[in-house]
Amino acid sequence: MQGVDAGSVEELQSRGMLVTKVGSHGVCVVWYGGRAYAVDDRCPHLGFPLHRGTVEDGLLTCHWHHARFDLCSGGTLDPFADDVRAYPVEIRDGRVLVLTPPTTDPTPALLVRLDEGLEQGLTLVTAKAVLGLLDAGAPAAEAVRRGVVFGTTHRHEGWGAGLTVLTAMANLLPQLAPADRPLALIHGLAFLSRDTAGHADRFPLAPLATKAVTPERLASWYRRFIDTRTDEAAERTLATAIGLGAADRDTTERFMFAAATDHVFLDGGHTLDFTNKAFEALEHLGWDAAPAVLPALVMQTASARRSEELGSWRHPHDLAGLARSASDRLASEGDVLLKGAGVADDEVAALAWRMLGPQSGEDPAEAVDSLLEGLHAGFTPEQAGRAVALAAGLRITRFHVQNDHGDWDVVHHGFTYANAVHQALVRNPSVDLLRGAVHGVLKVFLDRFLNVPAARLAPIGHPDLGDLDACWEAQGQVDRAGGIVYGWLLEHGDPAPVIAALGHALVAEDAEFHWFQTVEAAARQAQAWPDGSEPQALLLAGAARFLAAHTPTRRELPQLVRIATRLRRGDDLFEEM
Ligand code: FES
Repeated sequence: MQGVDAGSVEELQSRGMLVTKVGSHGVCVVWYGGRAYAVDDRCPHLGFPLHRGTVEDGLLTCHWHHARFDLCSGGTLDPFADDVRAYPVEIRDGRVLVLTPPTTDPTPALLVRLDEGLEQGLTLVTAKAVLGLLDAGAPAAEAVRRGVVFGTTHRHEGWGAGLTVLTAMANLLPQLAPADRPLALIHGLAFLSRDTAGHADRFPLAPLATKAVTPERLASWYRRFIDTRTDEAAERTLATAIGLGAADRDTTERFMFAAATDHVFLDGGHTLDFTNKAFEALEHLGWDAAPAVLPALVMQTASARRSEELGSWRHPHDLAGLARSASDRLASEGDVLLKGAGVADDEVAALAWRMLGPQSGEDPAEAVDSLLEGLHAGFTPEQAGRAVALAAGLRITRFHVQNDHGDWDVVHHGFTYANAVHQALVRNPSVDLLRGAVHGVLKVFLDRFLNVPAARLAPIGHPDLGDLDACWEAQGQVDRAGGIVYGWLLEHGDPAPVIAALGHALVAEDAEFHWFQTVEAAARQAQAWPDGSEPQALLLAGAARFLAAHTPTRRELPQLVRIATRLRRGDDLFEEM
């Protein structure tokens, strides 16, 4: 072991504390109880110098927020502060030597710290663990996997907003500037930690001890048990299907989405969105994680509010009845509708505008017919889903700021739901999912008054994406943010810098659930259209408007992550006056 001379024993004994340097680290050497101890001089909480602290009863107490550290191990008695690194000390020939053990792989310890940060809601600890893991070369997917395991275990109700945000951030990560990626990951994990706080653990049910039940029967059981809200029976059925390999991925996905569309627009669209996000999470983790991930959806799906139970879906228009008759029509035509040869992108966009047009705007049956006619005319299921998602996205792009501010969430729900249906149709099209698209059309119809009058999107000429920064700093910049993005895309056509700029703005704020969903869905939908196309520009302009309507915030989480980053880099966070 290398040693650094910190001074003479006499000096240490007479002063009680010495400060030396080990590499670039300040180290505080303490004389206590007849022997020497050494710990990093930088408090792991916010970086203040520990040599300004107090030693008493074997504990070093930091003066700033009074975190206490065991002198022997550096372990903290106050977990908000994290442990401080301790060094072995040797006395040789009257000199105090601080020893530096050879470095070892920090990954196992960092994963433990990540778990502790999540368990105890300590965002700083979570942030430091994530930054350390990424510095150590661990892939972001490792932290995502840890988070998904944590979230599906420590929330009795199963899949919720936290796992959705974490998956959305995992999806968005490659499109963000490299400097924003750690922050995005920390946002997702911190949100997950808050979403599990105070919830009991979830204890999964074991599969049935048989492989004799066919996938068809398991699918039928699952839908029946969700229909009758018997979540334990549904969970055990699902566990049997995936745990014993009785049903493959495609079959499982199809029957889970069938159950999520057997009733209308479950839980304001969240159920289908959560189901889609769980399958997206499995794209990051691999199908092996399915037995842990998918059963976490069951309780939410079984207990979800069914929109046919809501007055707004029954009067003055019987939207639930329309959904039922459309479902019958889809079922009678069967797989024919899944085999469309495809149409031009212009026709897909035209269908979206037709759904918003004067006729469909007044007549929900006409809106549903427009979708079914499109399918008959050769739209692929993907194109049908994309048209609905564009129509729902345009509700945001055309949302007038004179509406109640809370109604941004109403149009957001339609858009993220439609995005989820579209993503699921891309992965694994089915007639049942087309029912989900019909529900999306009806939701777009329901929200029509939030575009009366429709906001006019005016492109700003020759804009600079840097001009967006001012839009996040002050209220009332909704239309300007939309105009900058729209104008920039019409001029340059490349969505990547815009998506990165919107992602940067998102993670720079104390963003809320719906913001993560909106930005990620807009990025997904924009990329489904050709670069330079009008729908792409309109969708991203809508996301910019949504963000600008909610910024600025206090930006506490980004500030915490900045501190964690500087602590890791060894920057000076404190200067003696
Ligand atoms: S407890 Fe040391 S800086 Fe906060």
